[in-house]
Amino acid sequence: MLPFPSLISSTQLTPEIIDSIFKVTDDMADQIETSGRIELLDDKVVALLFFEPSSRTMMSFQSAAQRLKAGMVFAQNASSTSFEKGESLEDLIRMVESYSDIIVMRHAQPGSAAIAAETSKVPFINAGDGGNEHPTQSLIDAYTIFKEKGRLDNLKIMFGFDSLQSRSIHSLTKLLSQYENNHFTFTGPGELMPSQTMLDELTSNGVTCELEAEVKLHDGYDVAYVNRLQQERFEDPALFEENRLKYRLLKADIEGSECAILDPLPRIDEIATEVDDLPNAVYFKQASYGVPVRMALLAMLLGKA
Ligand code: NCD
Repeated sequence: MLPFPSLISSTQLTPEIIDSIFKVTDDMADQIETSGRIELLDDKVVALLFFEPSSRTMMSFQSAAQRLKAGMVFAQNASSTSFEKGESLEDLIRMVESYSDIIVMRHAQPGSAAIAAETSKVPFINAGDGGNEHPTQSLIDAYTIFKEKGRLDNLKIMFGFDSLQSRSIHSLTKLLSQYENNHFTFTGPGELMPSQTMLDELTSNGVTCELEAEVKLHDGYDVAYVNRLQQERFEDPALFEENRLKYRLLKADIEGSECAILDPLPRIDEIATEVDDLPNAVYFKQASYGVPVRMALLAMLLGKA
């Protein structure tokens, strides 16, 4: 059970709640290993609404629902639904709640998740609302960091390269800011550094933050969390083109360091493929945790774990 019906923002995830989700996640990972699929949600239907492109989030939610033997209903892009005809988000949710027991939605509009959760009579999960937040990704990221480093506090983390627009960076920094003694260094183009509001929020939670044009990962960094420049969110396409190849992690930046490299993926230009063979490269392992983490969330929000 979770103390809220819907997950909209990672600010809802306190260390105590995260701990309980990780315990269920470990249990789900064991169940995958031993049984493959379990009959936990065989009386439930999960609605998956993906109105923005998605590979990992959509497929890992599908896989999670399949492994729990839930039924599913889908809508995959705005143009194949009644949005195209001008239907409001509220009306869509009122309909989908009667077709399902829990709704997972990705939508291009920041704030759409809060509106949907407010409207919905069934539990709701934000799978990304525009450039705002991506709380389920932040749980996967934190789970990965915990597996690699054994803690979520006392961490020195680099974030790049589009902290302004990456919802994954927004949600993970909020989540980690609840733990003691974390230090964040943001890097990337000056125009894509975190907003002042974001920095104020993080520092008021006790995180020390700095902005650097260049970062040496060998200088005691525990984690480097990189995300592609969010091309679809640029108002000025020239700014994207100008910077897309300037920020890229190479083998030499990492080899021999203790720094774990995470990326919510897709990888575009931000990590050279030569990095993939290093033991520090944990981004594909991170993607694989999407299934047990999302199994845990579905089961807990439906009161089954
Ligand atoms: C992220 C997203 O959609 O925000 N991807 C994901 O869910 N794994 C990151 C991205 O698209 O850059």
